[in-house]
Amino acid sequence: MKTALVLNGPNLNLLGTREPAVYGAHTLADVEKLCADACAAHGLKLDFRQTSHEGALVDWIHEAGKAQAAGTLAGVILNAGAYTHTSIALHDAIKGAAVTVIELHISNVHAREAFRHHSYISPVAKAVMCGFGVSGYPLAIAGLAALTAG
Ligand code: DQA
Repeated sequence: MKTALVLNGPNLNLLGTREPAVYGAHTLADVEKLCADACAAHGLKLDFRQTSHEGALVDWIHEAGKAQAAGTLAGVILNAGAYTHTSIALHDAIKGAAVTVIELHISNVHAREAFRHHSYISPVAKAVMCGFGVSGYPLAIAGLAALTAG
């Protein structure tokens, strides 16, 4: 059984209390449960993480590249939070690790401030999901399963 690695970046630990009009009332623990259920339905094992540190995300993406090459990882679902719009390091890490990444955003970043319209992740992502609220996470897991099945 392959693993789906779900990585959450800065401030996503605040889900539930952070700008509920934008991100909804669900907590990160609720999101983890949604992901666990979706993984169980699609025959994937869940590895769910959050950090507010850019370098930790880089390290985890390198680790994911090795696991995918070894055949144990289906891919990464990455909500890089604000690092999406700033991080050349994450862009380079995804490219360098040659890992399958689905970029995910809870909100529709294109309907928000102009500084959220550019993503350093999108050019190196296999797919992009945004604007579905936290339901985007299980949808992305279904998408990853479909990609993995070929
Ligand atoms: C986000 C959108 C980003 O612009 C923002 O900085 C976040 C969350 C989302 O899930 O909608 O932290 O990635």
